Amino acid sequence: MNNVTIFDHPLITHKIAIMRDERTGSKEFRELVEEVAMLMAYEALRDINTKEIEVKTPIATTKTRVVAKDLAIVPILRAGLGMVNGILALIPTAKVGHVGLYRDHETLEPREYYCKLPDDIAEREVIILDPMLATGGSAIAAIDFIKARGCRNIKFMSIIGAPEGIEKVHEKHPDVHIFVGCKDSHLNEHGYIVPGLGDAGDRIFGTK
Ligand code: PRP
Ligand code: URA
Repeated sequence: MNNVTIFDHPLITHKIAIMRDERTGSKEFRELVEEVAMLMAYEALRDINTKEIEVKTPIATTKTRVVAKDLAIVPILRAGLGMVNGILALIPTAKVGHVGLYRDHETLEPREYYCKLPDDIAEREVIILDPMLATGGSAIAAIDFIKARGCRNIKFMSIIGAPEGIEKVHEKHPDVHIFVGCKDSHLNEHGYIVPGLGDAGDRIFGTK
């Protein structure tokens, strides 16, 4: 699939293995979400906008490039919040927007409860963050909101994805590059990723 990157990198797979373990507590889980997000961002931002500047070293003056300050990251609440600090550690100038969505437990349809985006989101490159891409409903709804605000340069980053969800998001928004740390086997009858890691929000925030 064009525009879909599955990492399958040993360091990422290793960290996700610890996240999957049901014995891993919230503190370690949160640290791992941040670390995996940072490793993924390193690659996902390979084509980030840069601009030329002039720098005087102790030896000579030279032209070089720095990152242009035009990135926005948008975590999907709640679980996407866990990925924010990992990316801000790399790009502290990124603006942060928030989209609040939860899945209706019966229908698995996403329900919106919050949306606050930077005023100039349309001019920014946007990375949407959510550790779990299951049916794809939440990802599609978040991309719809952000496109409705005029943004056309969007990436989506998740730590674990189900094949069904990855395909659905790609089909609905083929222009959005999807980055997934690990592609799992399938969804179960409750819409959970198998083997997955359970409910990411609950594991980050210790709510169950
Ligand atoms: C989880 C997860 C995603 C969504 C993925 O959130 O963080 O946002 O489910 O599922 P989908 O691809 O089928 O839409 P949840 O709805 O459990 O809300 P929470 O983050 O508040 O726990
Ligand atoms: N949301 C989660 O947090 N985990 C899943 O497996 C599916 C959706």
